Amino acid sequence: MQSIAIKDLLKGHHLLQEVIINGWVRTFRSNRFIALNDGSTLSTIQCVVDFEKFDADLLKKIQTGAALRISGTLVESQGRGQSVEIQVNDIFVHGSADPETYPIQPKKHSLEFLREKAHLRVRTNTFAAVMRVRSALSFAIHQYFRDHGFYYFHAPIITGSDAEGAGEMFRVTTLDDKKPPLNDAGEVDYSEDFFGKETNLTVSGQLEAEAYAMGLGKVYTFGPTFRAENSNTSRHLAEFWMIEPEMAFYDLDANMDLAEDFIKFVIAYVLEHCQEDLQFLEKRLLDEEKTKPQAERSAMALMEKLRFVVDHTFKRVTYTEAIDILRASTPNKKKKFQYPIDEWGADLQSEHERYLVEKHFKCPVILFDYPAKIKAFYMRLNDDGKTVRAMDILFPGIGEIVGGSQREERLEVLQQKIAALGIDEKELWWYLDLRRFGTAEHSGFGLGFERLVLFATGMGNIRDVIPFPRTPQNAEF
Ligand code: 4AD
Ligand code: MG
Repeated sequence: MQSIAIKDLLKGHHLLQEVIINGWVRTFRSNRFIALNDGSTLSTIQCVVDFEKFDADLLKKIQTGAALRISGTLVESQGRGQSVEIQVNDIFVHGSADPETYPIQPKKHSLEFLREKAHLRVRTNTFAAVMRVRSALSFAIHQYFRDHGFYYFHAPIITGSDAEGAGEMFRVTTLDDKKPPLNDAGEVDYSEDFFGKETNLTVSGQLEAEAYAMGLGKVYTFGPTFRAENSNTSRHLAEFWMIEPEMAFYDLDANMDLAEDFIKFVIAYVLEHCQEDLQFLEKRLLDEEKTKPQAERSAMALMEKLRFVVDHTFKRVTYTEAIDILRASTPNKKKKFQYPIDEWGADLQSEHERYLVEKHFKCPVILFDYPAKIKAFYMRLNDDGKTVRAMDILFPGIGEIVGGSQREERLEVLQQKIAALGIDEKELWWYLDLRRFGTAEHSGFGLGFERLVLFATGMGNIRDVIPFPRTPQNAEF
């Protein structure tokens, strides 16, 4: 007989039938009630054991964490808290879990403790719920683009270019680290390396996506990206997943419209499909907030916050307007910002982004037309000669969730910018070719997937929404 997922069993269609389930013990009470979970749902199913029918040695192995196969009859539950339960006929112990050493016991563990047990933490309600929402969001992302005529495009992971120009890259090499070949100037000679040049893990698939958009029209990437920035914050990972759509014949306005519509779709999707997990995460968040001072508590519960994003138009504001607001703001005047705002041209820090979103506008904000100096080389220069067609989407509790732009499609303007930044044109020869042959207005953006999962689940630390986080000083598992 085939085993059945607990999720399906709980629908009650198998009433009075003999069924088989597999799962892990959450609790075993009074030598009689096993709460079994198999990952298919947050819920456990209660399995009622008549202990006189079973060997004492076997019952001893039924401890929190043990993997079991149970066969029995699905009946209406006598007890409270569940509608159906299983009257157990047979138990097979796939594997036991010694309570002396198994760390995930049925009590509250801190998220910090569980981070050190990242290989086992998915057996807790919180992490299983987060990972199911993460999976649903991934699916929704593919669905959205498929429904809107995009092709899924795979950008290379190993590349020679630094798309963002920030120099925060992990080198990929097979050279002998103790005795690398040197050139006449005494520097490492990468022409002898595996690829015959210096290469690194990609920080963004954008440049390659641009090439493909200029033939397929609309493409998107959804893959891992890497940044060797030494930011030990609750919003940064060294390895994170990014979604990067790139569209030919789109200007910045069309780009912003797409980004807003896309985000609303994926959030509405999880609201519709992940009710049980979101309810659990909402309660978790409420409990966590009770431990905070009143002033720091969020005014909205998790699902209300998600609904708010779906139902409200994102506020679109130019960088210049934002600077005026920030300059005149109370925290700026009272010198409460760590980085005070006085000059036009200042880069915005997350404290400023969060002030705009959480205190001033109280809704998601799209900031656009940033100073060219603080943005990447590929963004289209405005006629004022000092701002570029950039846009960042800022979210409550998160800060920047999307970064995008209209791309500079004019060959001469791009060449001038590259030269001004001291980048060798030869490194970008193929990227410039896109402007030599059939160039056209085009745009795109990058959504940080883990920041989206953070927002959707109400978790507070980005390390808790990716299975095995990579951060400075940490690549365990
Ligand atoms: O703003 P970024 O650097 O933009 C780009 O990489 C562009 N090439 C995207 C494009 O136009 N195709 O990164 C995009 C998003 C950020 O808004 C943020 O959500 C996320 O990626 N992100 C990170 N997420 C986690 N950890 C990090 N270290 C991140 N760096 C960026
Ligand atoms: Mg950015």
